[in-house]
Amino acid sequence: MRLKRLTLVNFRNYSRLEIAFDRPLIVLQGDNAQGKSNLLEAIYMLATSKSPRANSDRDLLNWFAESDIQPYARIDAEVERGPRTERIEITVLKTNGGTNGPAVRKQIRINGVNRRALDLLGHLNVVLFVPQDVELVDGSPSVRRRYLDIMLCQINPRYCRALSEYSHAVVQRSHLLRRLRERPGDPAQLAYWDEMLTTRGSEVITWRRRAVIALDQLAGAIHRELTNGSELLRLKYQPSLPIPEALQPPLGLELAVAQDEIAAIQAAFAERLARLRPAELHQGACLVGPHRDDLRFLVNGRDLQTYGSRGQQRTAALSLKMAETRLMHAETGEHPVLLLDDVLSELDTKRRECLLEAVNGVEQAILTTTDLTLFSADFLARADSLRVTEGRLQRLNVGSGPDD
Ligand SMILES: Nc1ncnc2c1ncn2[C@@H]1O[C@H](COP(=O)(O)OP(=O)(O)O)[C@@H](O)[C@H]1O
Ligand SMILES: [Mg+2]
Repeated sequence: MRLKRLTLVNFRNYSRLEIAFDRPLIVLQGDNAQGKSNLLEAIYMLATSKSPRANSDRDLLNWFAESDIQPYARIDAEVERGPRTERIEITVLKTNGGTNGPAVRKQIRINGVNRRALDLLGHLNVVLFVPQDVELVDGSPSVRRRYLDIMLCQINPRYCRALSEYSHAVVQRSHLLRRLRERPGDPAQLAYWDEMLTTRGSEVITWRRRAVIALDQLAGAIHRELTNGSELLRLKYQPSLPIPEALQPPLGLELAVAQDEIAAIQAAFAERLARLRPAELHQGACLVGPHRDDLRFLVNGRDLQTYGSRGQQRTAALSLKMAETRLMHAETGEHPVLLLDDVLSELDTKRRECLLEAVNGVEQAILTTTDLTLFSADFLARADSLRVTEGRLQRLNVGSGPDD
């Protein structure tokens, strides 16, 4: 799939941008703080409805538009997917809000019809590479859970629904556990939320487990190449409850929902809950489930978070991201759009070449850089090159296509 056209209105430092993408490769060059990452942020939002970095959607609204009568920011794009073209619009509107002052509301439209954020998933798939990807290896477990969730939500909206119902159940059940701790009541009230927790939770676990098994194979092969065969990378899913031993690892990349697998995991989950009941009532918290999962990276048998060098951690994160693009393709039949935000400068030649090879294999990739000399003349000749200056784009005549 690919982005054919992008229009931004009052988004970050773009008061107005209108751009058509004609070629598979797009290189955005600009000094620091000109709007390169902002542009990729907008595209990422079209895929996931969420910003990869903003704490609040309010931050997305152009500062100078904040004093307009009805301030809004809009991302409007056309996405080509096989023979079909779809229009996706996201509008962030400032509202008067309630007691906490001004708030924002997000409106999503697909082909002109209002939709929920959940409906957006799968219309445009992206994989974003940023220098901070190393946090996948050295950051907290929540970074890794979030990573798996965003990937799986893009691959299948059903995952997203299960996850959102699961998260809701964790919150409600925790409330109830706290209430029961303060004022002992009938723990039978918990039965409803136990059921929600274990049905939705076992679905989440099944998907995550299958995805990690697939990623482990893909990333292992990529990592071997990146390290000239010297490092064996393994990814291990670490759920907070033991997976029944009888469950064989699923074969291949098939992520189709497996009812037997889900049922076996649900039974193990329920058993665990029963055993933890006194502790959960004592602590007033949900102590087990996918909200406590983790993902481990091992190189030659050693845990990378503890023993890896910075370079090894970076390479493992890169292998994982590249594996993700392959998994998305295998699962959806479509190449995701690759977004590379200033990642080439920190890679050595071998890793850079490998990444550029992956970039060449997809339908569309958008790369940002401060330094065009990182690219070969051949690469630039095939790319649309654009200069970003203070929220404006200007075509550079590096390429030699018909539209230059
Ligand atoms: N809501 C906003 N309104 C206007 N400008 C913004 C907004 N948010 C960020 N900026 C500006 O955008 C610029 C950073 O853009 P960014 O895309 O991160 O730069 P880079 O080209 O280095 O990737 C900064 O100058 C910042 O002040
Ligand atoms: Mg940037």
